[in-house]
Amino acid sequence: MTSFIDLDLSKGKDVISKHIYGHFVEHLGRCIYNGLWVGDDSPIPNTRGIRNDIVEALKAVKIPNLRWPGGCFADNYHWKDGIGPREDRPCMVNTDWGHVVENNHFGTHEFMDLCEQLETEPYICGNVGSGTVQEMQQWVEYLTFDGQSPMANLRKKNGKDEPWKVQFFGVGNENWGCGGHMKAETYAEKYRQYQTYVNNYSGNNILKIACGPSEADYHWTEVILRECMNETQQLKNSTHDKPIHSVWEYYRPQMWGISLHYYVRNRLKYTSATKFDESLWFEYMQRTLYMDELITNHSNVMDQYDPDKKVALVVDEWGSWYQPEPGTHPRFLFQQNTLRDALIAGVTLNIFNNHCDRVKMANIAQLINVLQALILTDGSEMLLTPTYYVFDMYKDHQDSTLIPLDLETRDYLFGDGNIPVVNASASRNQEGKVHITLCNLDPNRSEEITCNLKGENAISSVNARILTAAAMNVCNTFEQPEQIKPCNFDDIKAQENEISIVLPAKSVLAIEISFK
Ligand code: AHR
Repeated sequence: MTSFIDLDLSKGKDVISKHIYGHFVEHLGRCIYNGLWVGDDSPIPNTRGIRNDIVEALKAVKIPNLRWPGGCFADNYHWKDGIGPREDRPCMVNTDWGHVVENNHFGTHEFMDLCEQLETEPYICGNVGSGTVQEMQQWVEYLTFDGQSPMANLRKKNGKDEPWKVQFFGVGNENWGCGGHMKAETYAEKYRQYQTYVNNYSGNNILKIACGPSEADYHWTEVILRECMNETQQLKNSTHDKPIHSVWEYYRPQMWGISLHYYVRNRLKYTSATKFDESLWFEYMQRTLYMDELITNHSNVMDQYDPDKKVALVVDEWGSWYQPEPGTHPRFLFQQNTLRDALIAGVTLNIFNNHCDRVKMANIAQLINVLQALILTDGSEMLLTPTYYVFDMYKDHQDSTLIPLDLETRDYLFGDGNIPVVNASASRNQEGKVHITLCNLDPNRSEEITCNLKGENAISSVNARILTAAAMNVCNTFEQPEQIKPCNFDDIKAQENEISIVLPAKSVLAIEISFK
């Protein structure tokens, strides 16, 4: 059987924000310490303590934003512990992640330096769970105020005269869980209060992100939208004259986005990242596709208060979550990354692209050595995972216009279940090139695909890269670091405005099409 894709190139209107391709680093396991941060006295080549090989690899995939310091760690983090001379910084216990010693050597200055080295936007997550309003207000002042004030002066004393720019600020993390076990109504009140003091200083314009739901908690989304957007709604219906109107405008709660956390996992029975059969492949593909339903439903709830989709859904934690690798610390969440994870990344990014009218930002968890990582390290060694390569293959979608696609495909059947075999998204960049990314979820059968492109001249050239392997669980190891990586793909024919492809079983494909 053949699958069909229709693309009408005259139909694109929404832009796929580059921030959908964002990342996340937390003080967890070997993500920061013994991961990206080695300290400036390390024999591993580094720039001011940050590993050069990691920065180089990440720059190649164009990282648009980076979330820090957590995660649950953010709910325990007091930023003043992480500034000033490193030898004077207090040691604390990392209560979330293994009760290990946190020496605070990686703090605000080091994180902002990392963002500058990566040429990425910082996304800072503030502490609502155990932090104060004043602490959050002062952190923003420390980071962004260009003038005379206690916090700006402290920053200068610590060697940074000019303030930084901070575009994204999260007001809390998982406040329904590790961030305070709050009810939605309680958090909504806190959000309104805390965000008031997340000020814009010196021309900096912060986009504030509220803590959103876990998975299918639609009640949480409804309450936060209702309680934190009230004034906006009132403004719309307001009969006030201009001056009063602008006072409202200044003080009303602001919420650029609301987060959503969803991990592909079986919480009742975590399974191995590398030892799995077809039933677990199928189950994890099903769980991956569930992201589409979650986004659709949360977005529908948001539509009640925000029909114009002004508030972003920010999926700032997503990815696979398995049993930690045998022999590693159970709270360090170190897992291998196989071809199955490449499919999980490829399908999820396609889902985000296709929902780009609502999903304006996302962050895979996490960048290095934790959960669905792009990079694994072992001492001075470093390897790139299949997930890294998917981000590389999808990077052309960043800031391109989504071309909605009509997809007709067969089902992949397993046991009593069925899921669509082909998953895809498409976009067009400013030069007029079209990029299509396709996943074949069937681990056993290749799929013929005919793709029609309307609304353009004839095709002039087609290039494609594929990521696949002989088995579902192939991964890169320190012994064999290049077992799975993308290669050029030739099984593709172009004629006039049509391309035909034979998409291999269990593969991710990225196609670039140019026109005459
Ligand atoms: O990413 C690991 C953890 O998962 C984060 O710290 C937390 O926010 C989530 O529960």
